[in-house]
Amino acid sequence: MRISGISVKELARKYGTPLYVYDFSRIRENARRLKTAFKSDEVQVDFYYAMKANCHPAILKIFLEEGYGMDCVSPGELQLAIQTGVKPEHILYTGNYESHDDLKAAFNSGVKINLDDISSLYRLLKVGKPELITYRINPGKGNGKYEEITTGGDKAKFGVPFEKAVIAYENAIKAGIKRFGAHMMTGSGVLETDHFPRMLELFLNELSVIRSTLGINFEFIDMGGGFGIPYYGDDEVLDIEDVGKKTLEVFRKKVKEHQLGDPVLALEPGRYLVGDAGYLISRVNGIKEGYRTFIGLDAGFNTLIRSALYGAQHSIVFDGKEDETPSLKADICGQICENTDIFTKDRMVPEVAEGDLAIFTQAGAYGNVMAMPYNLRYRPAEVAIIDGQDVQITRRETIDDYLNRIQNIK
Ligand SMILES: Cc1ncc(COP(=O)(O)O)c(C=O)c1O
Repeated sequence: MRISGISVKELARKYGTPLYVYDFSRIRENARRLKTAFKSDEVQVDFYYAMKANCHPAILKIFLEEGYGMDCVSPGELQLAIQTGVKPEHILYTGNYESHDDLKAAFNSGVKINLDDISSLYRLLKVGKPELITYRINPGKGNGKYEEITTGGDKAKFGVPFEKAVIAYENAIKAGIKRFGAHMMTGSGVLETDHFPRMLELFLNELSVIRSTLGINFEFIDMGGGFGIPYYGDDEVLDIEDVGKKTLEVFRKKVKEHQLGDPVLALEPGRYLVGDAGYLISRVNGIKEGYRTFIGLDAGFNTLIRSALYGAQHSIVFDGKEDETPSLKADICGQICENTDIFTKDRMVPEVAEGDLAIFTQAGAYGNVMAMPYNLRYRPAEVAIIDGQDVQITRRETIDDYLNRIQNIK
């Protein structure tokens, strides 16, 4: 197997495993494809990269060059975005259960603040009064690939329920805030085209109630991210052109119908932009014929947690065996001392051997950013393929990274 022309064997030999590899040209292609899909002469569309998906500074730079702003969720992300050169006016800060210090960091840096609750407004006002605020509204419905990544609806911890949204904005008006945005993010990994225009229509209907009750204008309406990518099995490619076309149609129609003025449409994609540009290369350490057959890798949930967290399934390719007929049924697991350290169960794979390379595709989003040094297995190195050349962009963690933080031992 090759990634952007470079053999995975060579990458594994040079940098060791487990190893994250990113095809930077693919990230750029994704960024441009999404922008093209939402191109409109009538509506201004602003793009904020959801940097939680993968916040490597070299990746942030690509989005900066491609004209994306940043969607940040913590003071750390905010600091990194600003240090990478993103202008505060191109940053949206969306926290949840924000602390005084979180809000202080957001307020002092002059970014747009998107509040998760009415109570957040009062915590913010203790720090200062911005000219503009946005609320994340939970429109009462959501849809995600898994329940765990369904972020709208009555089971989600996020946002102001629509029933309280009028009060939320009214309180902000009473506090003297003059300018407003509106935000929703209802789920991640969505592969159905119609979900996006449908949720936007519901949201715009709800915003019309707020507008007609309070007479406020929304300067921008942010419909979040959520654009899915195929990972495994029957997953199909999302027709992003169709999503863009139908979403813009609904936006134009409903904004006009509800006399919502001339708001900007904002998007916050993460997974769609970086997911399929990333690979995790791991090695088969051992194959156990136990009560079940296990293929044990040197990557585990410490490296890629999506399967343990949501039951997410990835395509796993065994290098050099891509064309072999799968004849072995096995569970594929890592080395962590937890029984949840299992990537997949009963997967049909070719006859594999110790030392084979197992490559997880679609590992660019919510991969290394969620990695952890549990069991003191160090976080992997990261390599970018740029113009056909491999470049290490993060070194592998070592014992020193752990020990450097240890204090006060006699
Ligand atoms: C507020 C917000 N915006 C954007 C995103 C990005 O979502 P995705 O990676 O599915 O595009 C998320 C992800 O959960 C989010 O919570």
